Amino acid sequence: MILSPSLLSADCGNLAQTLRELEQAGVKWVHWDVMDGHFVPNMTFGQHVIKGLRPASGLFFDVHLMIEQPERYLADFKAAGADMLVVHAESTGHLQRTLAEIRRLGMKAGVALNPATPLCVLDYVLDDVDMVLVMSVNPGFGGQKFLPATFRKVAELRAKLNAAGRSDCLVQVDGGVNLENTKALTEAGADVLVSGSAFFGHPPFSERYAAFMAAAGC
Ligand code: DX5
Ligand code: ZN
Repeated sequence: MILSPSLLSADCGNLAQTLRELEQAGVKWVHWDVMDGHFVPNMTFGQHVIKGLRPASGLFFDVHLMIEQPERYLADFKAAGADMLVVHAESTGHLQRTLAEIRRLGMKAGVALNPATPLCVLDYVLDDVDMVLVMSVNPGFGGQKFLPATFRKVAELRAKLNAAGRSDCLVQVDGGVNLENTKALTEAGADVLVSGSAFFGHPPFSERYAAFMAAAGC
């Protein structure tokens, strides 16, 4: 299991130091929640902040775009140092083209699905994705309650990917992930877990990271 702590729950006045501490704690990925106030009600940071912090970190930058028409900004996020760009299927009318462009720019490409979005939206883009993000809350805010229907959705997604010959495609779960649901999520087929409040609310990072990995049986 890969743990990708969400900086939405970190101290935003201290992000460079937080990134260094995450790396020292053994964390490999970090999750950036980019929000535009349109696709979701909230606003956060964008490509300029990520670019400014890129020199502070060797972590894998997993960038979750909760913005309308993400195709407008793909090259900007590449220039900012994103390693993976995840776009919402609900946010663009041109999902396949957007995913292909992310890969053409040299990044890993991911699709995120809101809780009510069915898996069939993936049917004709299965060859275009490196990761599918299953939202386990409605996006926009940290600290929300995990939606239990996610377990079935993750299991069905994992089966669908395997049946399509895409067992290599990662499954990520984001929202309300904690030490209690980690084991069941990994057993259902999740490879990458995002955690905001349940990670940053319980320092030190090294101990919390170890607790998540142990909960996943790693
Ligand atoms: C929600 C974000 C999540 C969120 C996770 O819109 O995409 O990444 O920050 O935070 P927790 O783990 O607190 O639900
Ligand atoms: Zn996220």
